[in-house]
Amino acid sequence: MSLNLQTLCQEVCTLSKQVGGFIKTERKKFHLKSVEVKGKNDFVSYVDKTSEQKIVQQLEILLPEAGFIAEEATSNKKGEVYNWIIDPLDGTTNFIHGVPCFAISIALMRNDEIVLGVVYEINFEECFYAYEGSKAYLNGKEISVSKADRLKDSLLVTGFPYYDYDRLNEYMELFKYFMQHTHGLRRLGSAATDLAYVACGRFEGFYEYSLQPWDVAAGAFIVKQAGGKITDFKGEENYIFGKEIVAGNTNMFPEFLDAVKLFFK
Ligand code: IPD
Ligand code: CA
Ligand code: CA
Repeated sequence: MSLNLQTLCQEVCTLSKQVGGFIKTERKKFHLKSVEVKGKNDFVSYVDKTSEQKIVQQLEILLPEAGFIAEEATSNKKGEVYNWIIDPLDGTTNFIHGVPCFAISIALMRNDEIVLGVVYEINFEECFYAYEGSKAYLNGKEISVSKADRLKDSLLVTGFPYYDYDRLNEYMELFKYFMQHTHGLRRLGSAATDLAYVACGRFEGFYEYSLQPWDVAAGAFIVKQAGGKITDFKGEENYIFGKEIVAGNTNMFPEFLDAVKLFFK
């Protein structure tokens, strides 16, 4: 029997909202002493871990044959065809500081291709989603990328390098360039939300390096279904596992990517 991705997508949205409710409740009583350090500027708490357990448990029921690529490594099961790519809490640094931008990101990969993506931004209760063959949606309404066709008319979003400083000079030079040639840049602190905001046209473009598949898989798919374009810094397809991503509306994308290539040779 073939998989009904539309139904599955609705179920994943419902699950994200349930777990989002848990994260919101925990935020109200959250204390900094619950924070554990995974690596340089890389934090986690029982909230990330419990959320992932809840997500994995429910997805096991929804699609028993699927495996998992999940940030907190709740399950190491590998699926032959289907694998979920999960970030149970994208924007942990915001979460622990009480800054309101953090999200749940869940994608489904069939062989090497993403076929479903859900990004649920918890504070504004915004559920962004798409599945293979669908448009992209925000809380049930169709969304699309913006139509701006020049960099000079664009608002961009990025993530600042916080542990991998090897390419910091290139990053800063590109940052200066965009400062002078766009409406400006933002740093929300949740890559999944950055991508979702590109999908609905709030931002024209997003770029970052050193991201993990669970940061980008769902959001990048939603951008694509919303009519946008995504590549790595070379303009190639390796943006989910390749740790470099440029995503934008289709009209301004060539100029955007050219600027990235100018500094990241
Ligand atoms: C982080 C966020 C952030 C990005 C970092 C990610 P986390 O994810 O997406 O925007 O700049 O590189 O690690 O750790 O909060 O799940
Ligand atoms: Ca993340
Ligand atoms: Ca996370």
